[in-house]
Amino acid sequence: MSTLESRLHSAVARVRENWRGTRLIDGLEPGPAGTAALLDLARIYRANRLEIGRMRLLSGRAVAGLFFDPSLRTHTSMEVATGRLGAHFVYLQGGQGTWGMEFEDGVVMNGAAAEHIREAAPVLSTYADVLAVRAFPKGPNRDETVIRGFAAHAGAPLMNLESALSHPCQGLADQLTLCDLGGGDFKRRKVCLTWAPHPKPLPQAVPLSVVRAAVLGGADLHIANPEGYDLDGHELERARSFCRDTGASITLTRDPDAAADGALAVYGKGWGGDDHEGHAERVAGLSHWTVTEARMAKATAFLHCLPVRRNVIVTDGVLDGPQSRVVPQAANREPVQAAVLLSWML
Ligand code: CP
Repeated sequence: MSTLESRLHSAVARVRENWRGTRLIDGLEPGPAGTAALLDLARIYRANRLEIGRMRLLSGRAVAGLFFDPSLRTHTSMEVATGRLGAHFVYLQGGQGTWGMEFEDGVVMNGAAAEHIREAAPVLSTYADVLAVRAFPKGPNRDETVIRGFAAHAGAPLMNLESALSHPCQGLADQLTLCDLGGGDFKRRKVCLTWAPHPKPLPQAVPLSVVRAAVLGGADLHIANPEGYDLDGHELERARSFCRDTGASITLTRDPDAAADGALAVYGKGWGGDDHEGHAERVAGLSHWTVTEARMAKATAFLHCLPVRRNVIVTDGVLDGPQSRVVPQAANREPVQAAVLLSWML
């Protein structure tokens, strides 16, 4: 066994010492120690990915990626990570080229859906060693029906590729990016998560995953949003329960300038609040929440999960300027997802 392969096996063993789970649904599952071990493994992968690509470490394994919604980064980075590790990635589009799927129990299936989650998830689990699923809510903002259906009925390990409330792989990549910005970690460093205008009342998956990432990494997190756009209180409290362990803190404010002042990173993101009615009209009056060069004056870096609406969420000047880290942030998706796959299948 080469030195690199031996390092990878040791890093995987450290993940498993701290996290024996095979479900990554909201991103809190690995806990602070398991997450730190995953990030160490991701760093080894990132620094050696071409050599790792020649090793075919997961040869013979398969990942089924089921996308009910569009993706550029998640699809590509999952397929590339899986291929680089020597495993096979099956890309499936929910309801397009696959059967329309029913998730409700006890329903009379005489409508459009031809297949029930009770068969689909176990069948896919017989072919694939890992299931990876993306499904945004169709109705209410916080509807987790699809990912919950897979969690209930899949026998294979399950990775959430973004649901209504969680985008755990984005959260892992964001932690790796914050660690890079902080010179190794971001413990007790100020991180700003600021609401920004967007024409649609988007789900809270990304901002809640930023909160979880910041808390797991021990940040001094400042969350700024206008009235009516508070993050889900239950999910905030769940994340806050890790603060004592990690030394993290959460400050809520209506002042985006104060939140951004002196921050290691300003993470801009649009999201919907409790009331979606009248969102477009309200947003029209909230253009001062766009992240500008002035707001970034005393901050180090700008982050966003992408795709981003230029000159709505953030100005061209910030995105095209030296503070923007959105491309390396997106690049960090591949190594963190490879780390999860290695942890489950090596
Ligand atoms: N950030 C992110 O998940 O990008 P995609 O929607 O393109 O996958």
